[in-house]
Amino acid sequence: MLKLLRYLRYTWWQLLVSIMFVTLQSYFQLELPKQMGLMTNMVINGAETSDVLLKGGYMGIVSIIVVICAVGGALLNSYIASTFGKNVRADIFKKVTTLSLTEYEKFGTASLMTRTTNDVQQIQMALFMGIRIMIMSPIIFTIAISNTLRSNAVLTLVFAAAIPLIVIVLLIPFVVAYPLFDKIQKKIDRATLVLRENLTGIRVIRAFNQQRSEARRYDVANRDMTNITMKVGRTMSFINPGINIIFNITYLAIYFLGFASLDGQLATDPTNFVNFGSIMATAQYSINVMNSLVMFALIFILLPRARASANRINAVLDTNPTISDPAQPVTTTTGKGKIEFRNVTFQFKDADSPTLQNINFVSKPGQVTAIIGSTGSGKSSIINLIPRFYDVTEGQVLIDDVDVRDFSQKDLREKIGFVPQQALLFSGSVADNLRYGRQNADEALMWEALNVAQAAKFVGRKEEKLEFDVSQGGKNFSGGQKQRISIARALIKKPEIYIFDDAFSALDFKTDIKLRQALKSYVKQATVIIVAQRVSTIIDSDNILVLHEGKIVAQGKHEALLHKCKIYREIVYSQLDPEEIDKTLALSQQVLATNEGAD
Ligand SMILES: Nc1ncnc2c1ncn2[C@@H]1O[C@H](COP(=O)(O)OP(=O)(O)OP(=O)(O)O)[C@@H](O)[C@H]1O
Ligand SMILES: [Mg+2]
Repeated sequence: MLKLLRYLRYTWWQLLVSIMFVTLQSYFQLELPKQMGLMTNMVINGAETSDVLLKGGYMGIVSIIVVICAVGGALLNSYIASTFGKNVRADIFKKVTTLSLTEYEKFGTASLMTRTTNDVQQIQMALFMGIRIMIMSPIIFTIAISNTLRSNAVLTLVFAAAIPLIVIVLLIPFVVAYPLFDKIQKKIDRATLVLRENLTGIRVIRAFNQQRSEARRYDVANRDMTNITMKVGRTMSFINPGINIIFNITYLAIYFLGFASLDGQLATDPTNFVNFGSIMATAQYSINVMNSLVMFALIFILLPRARASANRINAVLDTNPTISDPAQPVTTTTGKGKIEFRNVTFQFKDADSPTLQNINFVSKPGQVTAIIGSTGSGKSSIINLIPRFYDVTEGQVLIDDVDVRDFSQKDLREKIGFVPQQALLFSGSVADNLRYGRQNADEALMWEALNVAQAAKFVGRKEEKLEFDVSQGGKNFSGGQKQRISIARALIKKPEIYIFDDAFSALDFKTDIKLRQALKSYVKQATVIIVAQRVSTIIDSDNILVLHEGKIVAQGKHEALLHKCKIYREIVYSQLDPEEIDKTLALSQQVLATNEGAD
């Protein structure tokens, strides 16, 4: 919690002024009972009306100052708290963008979302109220007690006796509720997770008629969250009535004892240890003292909750990304994007066994390397090691004989045009999405990339063309269209290395061939890695890696593999009959020869 207070440095002068306002407010607020006591005695002693009015006027001015300070303080505190929230949120966001996928998966999307929103808000609220309470309560408490001690020491003892009782009333619920605050945030995480899954998976839920069970799942999460919040609420609800009872008894006791010691007489001599004015002032001070304690009680609700949130935020901010830049990154290489895997073993953090074992291959510029294998065999895992989405557990991934860990991540990723398995577009225009690949890309470059990616036709058909609005996640495009735009986004970058992770899966056979043909002349000397499920996509590759349960069981050209590798043969024959293989090859040639644009 204290660690996060460093964010207050951005608003240090507002904080100082706010502290000044709150201090002044507390001080002047206590002027009122004092003046009230004096005024009462003045009236009883038959003072001049003009003197009484003067006192009244003074009290009026004091009240106005109190209001000004209260409003000024509240405005500043709100500014301080909002600025704090803004800066913490910005830093969490920045941090999240530097996290490697391993850490990202550790927290989970839903929890990261709650931490950036709700958790920050908890602290923001604690700050807004806390600054005021933490300054005001102790000041009011000390000044009120010392003033009463001076004006009426005996009566002060009455509410001095009440204070330990109040502390007990505050402590008991606090001890009970304290461990619950962390749980509340976890329950919010859970509810966010279910909600998020429901929003993103709405189609699947409807297709499988799971609305009811999903509603129940959300209901459980929601109820869990509510129950625990209510438990805290119930525990805390004892505080105010408890304090109020003590408070009223004290208030009565002051009057009772005060008047009893006056023996029914109104003592009006201000030097008398009990006089009417001082009883009134003491009673008023007691209100102030009790109020300051009630206010302080709020801290007991706000702070533990804010602390729980602060821990969750700090957990994100303090995470050191396991993937970071080297101290002395390599900036220049002599090669043109040769990729080499040397004895690579890779295991996911929480997995029991390695996903990839002893992977060795070289992918040269100007060549197409294909990776084929059954689902879950580790194809995506291999290519995710190249841009360092994950780091190898053992062995090395080298680009132009330099370990990928020796480049800065920015330089490394600059070399790579990556088309992920799940095509994802961002909201904005088609052009905005393409500019992800190259910021200063002009229209000609965009159309060229779209042409190669076989996307020019369907984009061209839109009235707004490149300015056509892509909705969130690219939902207003079909799966295949999204894939093609995401291919264009990688192409426009013109890097040394292209990686396509099952990027042609949604394309029909004809488009697939045309795209790869266009690609050939576009990428020229680049190193190309294509992951595919479909044999026809990789049949003419320069080198095919056959992956099976995380190991490369064979590599070579199609013909050679067909003879020497049983697993490859099985994959091929599961998709094509022997005579179809030749037909597929022939058809590819034929389509390529006609060279017409795709849809
Ligand atoms: N983030 C992850 N954490 C833990 N295990 C994972 C993770 N991602 C994948 N795996 C596991 O690693 C193995 C290989 O997954 P990978 O995604 O590389 O397969 P793939 O060959 O690309 O499959 P597909 O053809 O279905 O895309 C799988 O068994 C999978 O369960
Ligand atoms: Mg995959």
